[in-house]
Amino acid sequence: MKLPGVNLGSLLLLLLASCGGTLETSAIDLRTFVGCAVREFTFLAKKPGCRGLRVTTDACWGRCETWEKPVLEPPYIESYHRVCTYNETKMMTVKLPKCAPDVDPFYTYPMAIRCDCDICSTATTECETA
Ligand SMILES: *[C@@H]1O[C@H](CO)[C@@H](O)[C@H](O)[C@H]1NC(C)=O
Repeated sequence: MKLPGVNLGSLLLLLLASCGGTLETSAIDLRTFVGCAVREFTFLAKKPGCRGLRVTTDACWGRCETWEKPVLEPPYIESYHRVCTYNETKMMTVKLPKCAPDVDPFYTYPMAIRCDCDICSTATTECETA
């Protein structure tokens, strides 16, 4: 009588684990991963007046070279800061469920086609500068 309950519990746990964020599930590989690559990413698309929708897309993830070194002229430090960023993207659109009649149900997001180590461009990205 006890066994079926145990099995159901572990099955539920397994389901929950596989539904979790893709970044968490393979955290061990990511800690040692060197380079910048396209990687699957799941997020919740939402906006006021609509229900949220879980969307899986491709994003950029990785590590890029960063260095700073002394130079002769002021300010005496030369820096090289590259981040893993989108090089080529494709815009995708999904329709959010259960939107209020006056709300546009379409939600547009970028999908990474190619990622590269590059300077973070404030024109296309909300760069973390602070
Ligand atoms: C993508 O990479 C190419 C080759 O490195 C580069 O010339 C181009 O400027 C990059 N495009 C963007 C949007 O960063």
